[in-house]
Amino acid sequence: MEPGPGSGSGQGQGQGPGPWAGTACVVTGASRGFGRSLARLLAPQLGPGSVLLLLARSEDADTGNGTGNGTGGGPGLRVQCVPADLGSEEGMRRASAALRELLQDSSFGRLLLINNAGSLGDISKSFQDLSDLQEINTYFSFNISSALCLTSTALRAFGARPGCSRTVVNISSLCAREPFPSWALYCAAKAARDMMFRVLAVEEPGLRVLSYAPGPLDTDMQLLARTRTGDLGMRQKFQRMQEQGQLINSSVSAQKLLQLLQEDSFPSGAHVDFYDI
Ligand SMILES: NC(=O)c1ccc[n+]([C@@H]2O[C@H](COP(=O)([O-])OP(=O)(O)OC[C@H]3O[C@@H](n4cnc5c(N)ncnc54)[C@H](OP(=O)(O)O)[C@@H]3O)[C@@H](O)[C@H]2O)c1
Repeated sequence: MEPGPGSGSGQGQGQGPGPWAGTACVVTGASRGFGRSLARLLAPQLGPGSVLLLLARSEDADTGNGTGNGTGGGPGLRVQCVPADLGSEEGMRRASAALRELLQDSSFGRLLLINNAGSLGDISKSFQDLSDLQEINTYFSFNISSALCLTSTALRAFGARPGCSRTVVNISSLCAREPFPSWALYCAAKAARDMMFRVLAVEEPGLRVLSYAPGPLDTDMQLLARTRTGDLGMRQKFQRMQEQGQLINSSVSAQKLLQLLQEDSFPSGAHVDFYDI
């Protein structure tokens, strides 16, 4: 890994500037669900000279506890929300421009990019009913291509520098590994993303790359899963998970990711599941 300021777990929370001073932190899909919970937990961890850039279509990506929309989490943190539809060319241009502008500041000692934004796509149809090329391309453009382009843009803008560290997180899923009936688009996108980030990890051994599967979360996405999944068996499985209280609170899973990042001992490119930890 690239040894950065405070890298490793030696500097605990609440000890002076904390482990993540001078960090440029970017979270996509931070307006709701897991991304929002993660941004709320990250904000107090980002020390002086840090910026938290939040990307989603809606602007209400505040980080909670009065830390949203530019008022900062820890002292000296600036929070910036940029509305951008990562499924559109215009949105990607806006997001990429915001990234480049942020990362041109060479005073940052650390880059932390969390590729979290995602969607289920049309889960009502079986494989054989997926024949609309434009719909399929639009889905993959948001769920695969945007993460690739944002990550490459960020890495070019924040190149390897002595004493700096760069970490890229891909929010993955069990679906990267297991086929779910009716979920061809989602499973394919999650599998592709995992492999894409594994390639990045082997190309750039100085980078820290993690695919984190957050477990079944109690979010809007799960509501869609249990109401819209075409396959009856899967839909009932999702309904049972909710009825039996098996869904995970986003903050609990986000806290595990934070712990993984703070310990910083995962093999680069690894897929780590909530239930592995
Ligand atoms: N929920 C689960 O059980 C579960 C399980 C495993 C993995 N995951 C993964 O965890 C991540 C977060 O899931 P979640 O459950 O928190 O989902 P969610 O509640 O549906 O939230 C999705 C986030 O992505 C943003 N987003 C959606 N479309 C966008 C677009 N076109 N451009 C920019 N941002 C967009 C949304 O913000 P706007 O609507 O404001 O744009 C929102 O902030 C996803 O990658 C998901 O695949 C979820």
